[in-house]
Amino acid sequence: MSISFEHHSVLLPQTIKLLCPTPPASSTDVLRFVDCTLGGAGHSTAILEHHPQNQIVGIDRDAIAIEAATERLATFENRVQIRKGAFADVLETLEPSVYDGVLMDLGVSSPQLDVGERGFSFQKDGPLDMRMDREGLISASEWLDQVDETTLANVLYRYGEEPRSRRIAKAIIQGRPWHRTLPLAECIKNASGYRNSRTHPATRSFQAIRIAVNDEMGQLERALPLALRTLKHGGRLAVISFHSLEDRVVKHFFKDCTGVNAPKDAYGNPMAPVTGKIITRKGIAGTEDPHPRARSARLRVLEKISL
Ligand SMILES: C[S@@+](CC[C@H](N)C(=O)[O-])C[C@H]1O[C@@H](n2cnc3c(N)ncnc32)[C@H](O)[C@@H]1O
Repeated sequence: MSISFEHHSVLLPQTIKLLCPTPPASSTDVLRFVDCTLGGAGHSTAILEHHPQNQIVGIDRDAIAIEAATERLATFENRVQIRKGAFADVLETLEPSVYDGVLMDLGVSSPQLDVGERGFSFQKDGPLDMRMDREGLISASEWLDQVDETTLANVLYRYGEEPRSRRIAKAIIQGRPWHRTLPLAECIKNASGYRNSRTHPATRSFQAIRIAVNDEMGQLERALPLALRTLKHGGRLAVISFHSLEDRVVKHFFKDCTGVNAPKDAYGNPMAPVTGKIITRKGIAGTEDPHPRARSARLRVLEKISL
């Protein structure tokens, strides 16, 4: 039975144009790409359709995304290799300096957000889970049981840019334990005091808790140098981020690769001072894509210029 996975691939033509700028040098050459965030395999399909000699290694930590992507990419047969896991862990196992492109389309997919049972939504009742990989890590409910008030307030402020983080954190801690999404969303709404905001008052807090539960910033910071390591000279790293904190990490890493400061590898050791050339100076804004999912997106691309 085919599984349904409705997801709009953000900035698709812009990404393919910048990630795959040149065709293979000869009819026997293959170009190798890593899609760190397969999701519904929209970007991967476009990479594979872009040239018949393109191949991909596709990664996702979500079993449902892996299932949907495996089904969608089956027609490409041995041009595709699929790996389930967190992208920083999988990138660490890939051979250095052999790939032509690496893509990261960060954050969550529409099916993860829209299915109440996954526990990401503040609008649909479900267990307070929020794990992309349901076999690993701890759920949002368990995380909220363990966290102290100051750490929670800092997470809401940093990862959610929530200005009322302290009073929301206090109310969440007082109302523990939390098992379902809607009661938590209601608590945040009441504690925040937002009355006429355009977005739901729990939007920023739910985003922040999700980022913490999945260690999204830790994954990104570890993965960027590893992605660069897998690229060959002239290979490109494309990252689509969805909030300013992620975008700032990508922007600074890219800038460091141009030699302003020596970038650090995944183990904290300085790398060669000039390793990359920025292809998109200000990044490509999501507003180039009319789909509402793209509203806050930004695509940045770096070309590796060291060996
Ligand atoms: C925005 S969606 C990708 C959509 C995809 N580009 C497409 O066109 O269908 C992000 C996907 O990345 C996965 N993901 C996010 N962070 C991850 C990580 N650190 N390791 C592995 N997968 C991750 C999520 O599970 C989700 O399926």
